[in-house]
Amino acid sequence: MPTDPNRVLVFDTTLRDGEQSPGCSMNLAEKMDMARALRDLGVDIIEAGFPIASPGDFESVQAIAREVPGPIIAGLARCNAADIDRAAEALKDAPKKRIHVFLATSAIHLEFKLKMTPAEIIRRAVESVKRAKGYCDDVEFSPEDAARTELEFLAEVCEKAVEAGATTLNIPDTVGYAVPSHYADIIRYLKKNVRGSDKVVYSVHCHNDLGLAVANSLAALMEGARQVECTVNGIGERAGNTALEEIVMAIQTRQDFYKLATGINTRLLVPTSRKLSMVTGMHVQRNKAIVGQNAFAHEAGIHQDGMLKNRSTYEIMKPEDVGIPSTDLVLGKHSGRHALKQRIQDLGYQTDEAQVLRIFEAFKVLADRKKIIYDADIEALVENQLHSGTMEVWTLVNFSCSASFGVPPTAAVTLKHQDGRTVCEPAVGDGPVDAVLKSIQRGTGIELKVSDYRVRSVTGGLDAQGEAVVEVEFDGRKLSGRGVNTNVIEASAQAFLQVINRIALRQVRPRLKPTDHVSQETVPTA
Ligand code: KIV
Ligand code: ZN
Repeated sequence: MPTDPNRVLVFDTTLRDGEQSPGCSMNLAEKMDMARALRDLGVDIIEAGFPIASPGDFESVQAIAREVPGPIIAGLARCNAADIDRAAEALKDAPKKRIHVFLATSAIHLEFKLKMTPAEIIRRAVESVKRAKGYCDDVEFSPEDAARTELEFLAEVCEKAVEAGATTLNIPDTVGYAVPSHYADIIRYLKKNVRGSDKVVYSVHCHNDLGLAVANSLAALMEGARQVECTVNGIGERAGNTALEEIVMAIQTRQDFYKLATGINTRLLVPTSRKLSMVTGMHVQRNKAIVGQNAFAHEAGIHQDGMLKNRSTYEIMKPEDVGIPSTDLVLGKHSGRHALKQRIQDLGYQTDEAQVLRIFEAFKVLADRKKIIYDADIEALVENQLHSGTMEVWTLVNFSCSASFGVPPTAAVTLKHQDGRTVCEPAVGDGPVDAVLKSIQRGTGIELKVSDYRVRSVTGGLDAQGEAVVEVEFDGRKLSGRGVNTNVIEASAQAFLQVINRIALRQVRPRLKPTDHVSQETVPTA
């Protein structure tokens, strides 16, 4: 742990709180890829998942614990023996591990959800911290819904958790109810009234229901909190969590005011944001702070004029500092492998020679279809390459489809199974994409309800690549797939096939969310 009192620990929960939000679920390979990107970004703690939630969650926490050395790997557990034991088991091989236990403390949660008395809450919290402590020294305790908890009781639970051995006290604003000065008051009160406060790290965990997650987190840092829990692109339950890129750049840009620092390599902020968007199919809005497409675009003439005279007139951060390459270099048909390799590096990707070669092959095919290749095109090629081959039960061989005025659209998709057999089942649909998706379902025998379908252009221009995202409901979870191609129907087929492959691989199993609180009561107690 850093000894500098002004160092803020970045606790990333993209793979836990972020991943549990609709449309953001990731499979094992994707989680590993994100965990490595978070490690490279320089986060201090990766909350890798909620091991008891499902066998899939357990496996991913275990794999990250084993294969991503560097940051502390945390696993979430409710305050009961089964959860804590499962988290400890998943984290067993991590060089640096943390068990994060949580239990609601607000009167509303006690009365309606847990049906427990305040005394029972304290007893359970203490037993659980002690049990976790039996597995590792580093134990975080979160009084869930702290921002709506009566202060005296909150301080009492926190004090008992510290006495039991908690090393981090995380104060969640679970429902995004706090406002900055209110949240700052809570931290100040706890630091003053909880015995042992000087021995623990205060942490903040804010949800963005009122759009205040970053502001609340900053207010708490002013009161001495030194860990901030956040997610890339701010993904998370409902309106999401504190956005990592925003809190980090606020601390860095206003160093003069906060006098704090993080260990984040800010030049990887945009690449990490883009990676998450590619993996989940969930894109940030254009005007999103730091990582949105327009975050550094100056449109108004008066601004452009000022920028030309001196960038500091209208620019508080340099685009390069967050990982937006400074050159406007575009690539095309005649660009060579070295230029492409350089661009891939500038965009923040680490690839080996074999991967560069495969990306270059795909680049040449694309360059035949498209005059100018932009950064977004290259990112799409790289991500396709990095994620291909991880889940290919079915591959697309070819397809034909027809759509003409007054005639029902039809499609025939030929698919190859990994066991060697080939299928082609023609289908009629409401539109050509619908027909293609139906033909895939008939061929694979996997029937799905599509809950969302989106197509967007990766760059400008009529020859732009189209990115299709297909979202389906399966086993109570939302799964999404993504495909990129200059032919949007082919992109749609690829996206749908990605979902089919995830299901065929049975990587997706029903699971519990930390907020499905059946459980503090129904599983064995600590
Ligand atoms: O929002 C919340 O309260 C949580 C806890 C599990 C820390 O995510
Ligand atoms: Zn949360």
